[in-house]
Amino acid sequence: MATIQELFQKGKSLLRDCPDPSLEAKILLLSAASIGEEQFFSSPDLRLSRKQERDYFQLVARRLAGLPIAYLSETKEFWSIPFRVLPGVLIPRPETELIVEKVLEFSSQNHETIVDVGTGCGNIAVSLAKELPEARIIATDTSAKALKVARLNASEQKVDHILFTRGNLFAPLKKLNLKRKCDFIVSNPPYVSENEWAELPQEIKGYEPKKALVAGYTGLEMLQKIIKDSRSFLKSEGYLILEIGENQRKEVNSFFNSGWKRVAFSKDLSGIPRVVTAQKI
Ligand SMILES: C[S@@+](CC[C@H](N)C(=O)[O-])C[C@H]1O[C@@H](n2cnc3c(N)ncnc32)[C@H](O)[C@@H]1O
Repeated sequence: MATIQELFQKGKSLLRDCPDPSLEAKILLLSAASIGEEQFFSSPDLRLSRKQERDYFQLVARRLAGLPIAYLSETKEFWSIPFRVLPGVLIPRPETELIVEKVLEFSSQNHETIVDVGTGCGNIAVSLAKELPEARIIATDTSAKALKVARLNASEQKVDHILFTRGNLFAPLKKLNLKRKCDFIVSNPPYVSENEWAELPQEIKGYEPKKALVAGYTGLEMLQKIIKDSRSFLKSEGYLILEIGENQRKEVNSFFNSGWKRVAFSKDLSGIPRVVTAQKI
């Protein structure tokens, strides 16, 4: 049986054509061996069991076959929190943290009502719940699988003030009588067009859920609908905060009519506008 250090070196070499062989080998090794990073560094001579070794090389083989690393390790870090992700549920992306930042920037009081439409694994809702323990948070999705994983993440992070509810866009809010009651509506909705989907790398197209990414023929369908329909659920002065695609700023801007003020776009680390914020008049 090989040591952690030997298995790590072997994995790194096998994964040499992946984006980050060292990080990926370490993530898969920690996952197969069920050990933490501290043990990885403090006990390089620790020997794994035959089963753990076999599990590790199976993970490496599946990674080489193209499976996203987050689905293999079943975790992805977001807002410095380890989130559980499973195939069928979108893997959180770093640019989505901008939504959390914006809510925290605009949040001015306790007990605000915040709705996360299309919560996926719950990354936005759970991150906000940890930051704003007094807020009332409602998280929706059409996917039962996403909601199951989101509930699990909330429970693992010990936040119990999120109401998870299944339904199409704002339908669950109607049932909850939330008309004109929301301080924030946030969403990272599907915004990819059918054509863009066809061009996406196999690592995304082959494994991540199409329904979580594709909005329709133009990719703008869901964003336009959310901008229009969110008005009935926001309080006056309430905020709408949405992630958008890389080239959607101009069209998205045109969806805001005179009923909105302070429409602004925030840029990601590459300087691309990826989040729009607006306040209902
Ligand atoms: C781009 S993913 C975002 C997931 C997560 N919020 C994040 O930021 O990583 C979009 C999510 O919206 C959900 N969704 C798609 N269409 C929806 C709809 N009509 N109503 C509610 N949720 C929807 C998908 O199931 C998916 O979980």
